[in-house]
Amino acid sequence: MCYKFIMEGGKLFLTLVVLGCNFTPSHGDAGSDLSKLSTEYFEWRMSVRPESSTYRGYHKYNDILESFTMAGYNQSKIKADEYFARLTSIPRDDLSRSDKLNYDILENMLSTYRNGYEWRLYNNINPLNLMEGPQRSPSIFTSFFPFYTIGDYENYLARLTRLPVQIDERISLFREAIRLGTAYNNVSVNLVIDQIEKVQNDCPLSSYSANCGFYKPFTQGLDQIHTSNATRDMIRSRGVIAVNSVMQKFQDLKVFIQTEYMPATRKGYGVVNLHKGREFYQACLKWYLSLDLTPEEVHRKGLDEVKRISGEMKKIMVKNNFQGSISEYFAMLKNDPSMFYNSSEAMLDGYRDLINTRVDPYLAKLFNNLPGLPIVVKPLSSDGPAGRYSTGSKDGSIPGIFWANVIRPAEFPKYSMLPLAMHEANPGHHLQLSYNLLTETPDFRSKMESSTKFRVPYAFPSYTAFIEGWALYAESLGEELGLYKDDNELMGRYSSEIFRACRLVVDTGIHYYNWTKDDALDYILTYTTESHDAMSVEIDRYVTWPGQACSYKIGELKIKEVRQVAEKRLGDKFDIRAFHTSIMDNGAVPLDLLERNVNDWIEDQLTKQPQEPGSPTCSARNQFAQIWLLSILLTSVGILRH
Ligand SMILES: *[C@@H]1O[C@H](CO)[C@@H](O)[C@H](O)[C@H]1NC(C)=O
Ligand SMILES: *[C@@H]1O[C@H](CO)[C@@H](O)[C@H](O)[C@H]1NC(C)=O
Ligand SMILES: *[C@@H]1O[C@H](CO)[C@@H](O)[C@H](O)[C@H]1NC(C)=O
Ligand SMILES: *[C@@H]1O[C@H](CO)[C@@H](O)[C@H](O)[C@H]1NC(C)=O
Ligand SMILES: *[C@@H]1O[C@H](CO)[C@@H](O)[C@H](O)[C@H]1NC(C)=O
Repeated sequence: MCYKFIMEGGKLFLTLVVLGCNFTPSHGDAGSDLSKLSTEYFEWRMSVRPESSTYRGYHKYNDILESFTMAGYNQSKIKADEYFARLTSIPRDDLSRSDKLNYDILENMLSTYRNGYEWRLYNNINPLNLMEGPQRSPSIFTSFFPFYTIGDYENYLARLTRLPVQIDERISLFREAIRLGTAYNNVSVNLVIDQIEKVQNDCPLSSYSANCGFYKPFTQGLDQIHTSNATRDMIRSRGVIAVNSVMQKFQDLKVFIQTEYMPATRKGYGVVNLHKGREFYQACLKWYLSLDLTPEEVHRKGLDEVKRISGEMKKIMVKNNFQGSISEYFAMLKNDPSMFYNSSEAMLDGYRDLINTRVDPYLAKLFNNLPGLPIVVKPLSSDGPAGRYSTGSKDGSIPGIFWANVIRPAEFPKYSMLPLAMHEANPGHHLQLSYNLLTETPDFRSKMESSTKFRVPYAFPSYTAFIEGWALYAESLGEELGLYKDDNELMGRYSSEIFRACRLVVDTGIHYYNWTKDDALDYILTYTTESHDAMSVEIDRYVTWPGQACSYKIGELKIKEVRQVAEKRLGDKFDIRAFHTSIMDNGAVPLDLLERNVNDWIEDQLTKQPQEPGSPTCSARNQFAQIWLLSILLTSVGILRH
């Protein structure tokens, strides 16, 4: 039996669908062994990634913090080896079809991690940077933490007390990186100094207020707790002592970075300048892409895509009798005031209108069993990326949120809004994560840990190539449906796409072909509409996270490729709605498994009986899966554009 939520005309119907739900009975010992193993594995991951567990709403480890030591890295490898041995002793052939996928994903997670061990002495021992670390955002430290009881405060105090130890551990790892010659280029840590100074300014020693992220929970929140004033006073004074030592440790960190680390940063820009740097880069690419592609292949795909997309753009420019370059064409568009909304409110309404009237009416042409979970548009409170997405709850009581940057309406042209809305909302992140919320998968898949990217490739995967590839593919569905209504909107769509194609060229350029920052800037500014300053920070991100920027376009290309295969093999039998829905129902997977799942689906279509169009296929969906992960994944990276 399974429940299905259907959103119709704005009303939520709960339909109990009894027929058509095909639960495969568990297949004896193999199935229960796998389930036991995956539960233990999940528990292990939660226990060693306590901050990440808190984000998932898993509160068992709220009193500890992750440790950052060489010995810890070694122990994790041993643990992963043990799990891997247990997994591979389970006879996969005896598993049900859905368990086979669970098996394969667990195998992929463990193998990815074990393969990464070889590279543990690279970025992995440079454990904070302009995008990651406790200095980035103290609010991340507290915002998912429950503060309802004195026990919660005791847990939080334990964490705060542990934080200086963790910062010392990070410093020790940095010293190893200096010793081994695997430090970052200085662009990865320049901003860290500013970030630490911001934290220090917000937290003047011993006189803390709600402005100080680490101290904030001890302000009004504590007054709501049912206890005596004496206890509250005691907790507050312990809070001041704990935050004092955190602040002192931040000062140590700042001095360390300024005086020891900065002078030792690598002079070369890309990782190609490290010992065995090209191999390291290849391993990073493999981690992000979940595919075996060489840097040469990725670079070549990027050049081909840039050529193809800029060809489409030039056709439009020729049609409009424009002789100049792509960036000149965009400069011309940007000179026209009618291309912009003149207030933030109007821009927000513009997004709402795009989602509700332009896109959503067409979704049923492309998908079956639309989850219908609500999506709302809200303004981002601080400047940064053009948009972000955060997931809602599976009962719809908390909507998915498309956080739109409407701070500078005069700089963000209307023609860029539709592709962004399709990326973040429907049929992009919101739709994909809505299916995910409603799909029954084991905790180790539905509550996947958020990756700390400095660790890559010695890290457990989070299948970014699938998630971001899907969102970029979603932008292309707008073109297929004819939703981009004029030349300008099509130019907006192509500019969004070519930006991701440029990333393939530039990321491989920097890390494999030893491009300088100027080479990278020159290339990216030729094809995009972005400012020099914005692209400079963008490229610092590529330098810090080798390979990450390639996941979007490669994921999209893979989805397009498997679709073409399916269309070709199924001919008249190809049903686009069934195709998309089958991808959605399997959730986030590595791209090689995506390919295999689609091939299995093709075989099913070739052999199955003709079905009534539109009859509900009932994938097992339960009410327990929660996807904190993905919302963190998509929202935690403040300065970046998705
Ligand atoms: C980790 O394991 C490696 C390889 O076995 C070994 O060389 C190294 O000494 C270990 N480090 C620690 C801190 O245990
Ligand atoms: C506790 O403190 C609050 C505010 O500081 C005060 O209003 C209240 O009277 C105090 N309660 C007792 C029992 O002292
Ligand atoms: C970063 O390193 C480059 C040389 O690699 C140097 O020119 C620049 O001044 C350094 N920046 C800082 C802030 O130290
Ligand atoms: C990368 O280029 C720089 C000059 O820009 C050069 O000094 C360095 O040796 C090159 N690195 C490699 C690995 O070729
Ligand atoms: C805002 O733009 C609309 C058209 O998009 C225009 O009609 C209106 O006059 C503008 N308002 C202001 C205050 O410029």
